[in-house]
Amino acid sequence: MDGTECELKYEAMLERYPDTEIIFGSGAAEQFGELLNAEKASSVLVFTGSSRGAAAKAMPELQDTMSYMNLDFRFSMGIPAEPAVADVRGMVKILEEEKPQFVAALGGGSVMDAAKAAFLSWQSGLDVTELFGVNQAALKCPGKTFRRVICLPTTAGTGSEATPYANIVDPEANVKKLIMEEQIIPSHAFVDPEYTVSMPKHLTLVTALDAMVHSVESMLNRNAPAAHPDSLEWGKEAIRLIVRALPVVLKSPGNIVARGCVSAAATLGGMCIRNRPTSLPHLCSFSLYGKIPHGLAVAALLIPFWRYYLGDKAVRESTMEMAGLFSRTMEKTPEEIVDSCAKFLVACGGPGKLSDVEGLDRSVIAKIAADAVLNPMKLQSCPRPMTPDRAEALITGILEKAW
Ligand SMILES: [Fe+2]
Repeated sequence: MDGTECELKYEAMLERYPDTEIIFGSGAAEQFGELLNAEKASSVLVFTGSSRGAAAKAMPELQDTMSYMNLDFRFSMGIPAEPAVADVRGMVKILEEEKPQFVAALGGGSVMDAAKAAFLSWQSGLDVTELFGVNQAALKCPGKTFRRVICLPTTAGTGSEATPYANIVDPEANVKKLIMEEQIIPSHAFVDPEYTVSMPKHLTLVTALDAMVHSVESMLNRNAPAAHPDSLEWGKEAIRLIVRALPVVLKSPGNIVARGCVSAAATLGGMCIRNRPTSLPHLCSFSLYGKIPHGLAVAALLIPFWRYYLGDKAVRESTMEMAGLFSRTMEKTPEEIVDSCAKFLVACGGPGKLSDVEGLDRSVIAKIAADAVLNPMKLQSCPRPMTPDRAEALITGILEKAW
């Protein structure tokens, strides 16, 4: 796979994203240093997970770059996967001790989400639980503006580097909850595909599936009047890139051109859902945290809900815009397009149906359906209208049929 195959159309899309300055390509550490220099930064705290994997490459690079600058530069490690309320509170404590001028997140979606939530919680003085919902900090601290996190993603899937979302586990409700706040959209994202090369095959797959589902769900959501006019094109490009490049990186993990395509698709997917949010597949995945990887959950949930959505005329039209993206043939009906997507997911090693996913048993359906009302904004973005009072019964029926 060479660069011309990807057509490099995505570069212009990433460059023009208005909400986050996206710096795409190799040399992220150096460019991050240049930004801090230009901003005359005095102190930076970088949250990260472990020193293994991509961080093993990125951390020394960042340390080297920063060592030439007169800067208080620190790593705070140990941010876990699927961060919970207590983890974010711990990060707020560190922020209170360190009082950094800039905060960065080096890692996958968990690290980026936790850093976004913690930085906002610290600046607003609000507990993370008070931030669940839509623009709660803006409502509770009127007129206050908040500094934003700088992201250096090390996986290619979440798109968190371009979104106003942070998913945090609420152990009391035993479900992930969503913070949606305009002011946590990262200011800058240094997207370096080199950081994703060391990802193991399974992580490469599940994170890319997440990006694929973001793009599809976003394209199906036409209930977003303020969406960026290019957001549908971003979705199409993201799907096109994943369909072409994901099979390549699964076979040849070191193919940097293909890695670049998947990284670009992931950020495009984030740009998509910032504008046209996800709905039922993502909503229902929140109940499966800790049981199976997020990307597998949303991939297994996409097809049943998409088939349900097809009962709506507008969804059928939105689906037809994806004709020819998942296979070489130009499908003639929305049902054929959903089938092509399902085939692609399975061909890559993704799940065919929920019961294929190891670690799930049928009892999860009742929990998923009962939890659905805990994140009402995702019900509101459902392309085929679903009111909270009917959600539990409808979701149960859809998932029982697809089991
Ligand atoms: Fe996702």
